[in-house]
Amino acid sequence: MIIYILGSMGSGKSTLGKPLAKMMNRKYIDLDDYIEQQQGRKIHQIFEEIGESGFRQLEREALIQTSQLEGDYVVSTGGGTPCKGDNMEIMKENGLTIYLKLDSGVLASRLVSAKRVRPLLAGLDLEGIKAKIDSLLVEREPFYSKAHITVEGFCLSTKDLYTIITSYDDIKNKE
Ligand code: S3P
Repeated sequence: MIIYILGSMGSGKSTLGKPLAKMMNRKYIDLDDYIEQQQGRKIHQIFEEIGESGFRQLEREALIQTSQLEGDYVVSTGGGTPCKGDNMEIMKENGLTIYLKLDSGVLASRLVSAKRVRPLLAGLDLEGIKAKIDSLLVEREPFYSKAHITVEGFCLSTKDLYTIITSYDDIKNKE
């Protein structure tokens, strides 16, 4: 079974996902890293060379491949992963989906100082990033909100996330 971490760029999917996997004794995959390793090029190069639609195709293939892996995993997705085609349904069929919800002000302040190159935010200052995240959230919230669990992501620790997931499992097992 797979635990999928969903949410906007800057929501902490990888920062929390990796230690969560360790805490839960699961293997860990960051979907962007998986794509980069398979492609032998960075996400921003993929965007430059084959555009966003090409990237979305690779992202979908990576999601399908990883959903077929045997064993217990935590998978941190990209911010746009749940919002294309039936990606959200694929994740829900193969595991537990958790949406880390944060407001755009917090996300923008994290993203403005992030080192990783994010093609959708290239060249934007703090205000530009906030405006872009606001418009992405309007588009994406309907997909994110289909997750099994929505968690307030501000100040969320790995231990908090662990407790939320394991108590959700307890509830499901009692049903
Ligand atoms: C994207 C988010 C990125 C990466 C790509 C597109 C998005 O991942 O997949 O740049 O559409 O929001 P992170 O959410 O890990 O930054």
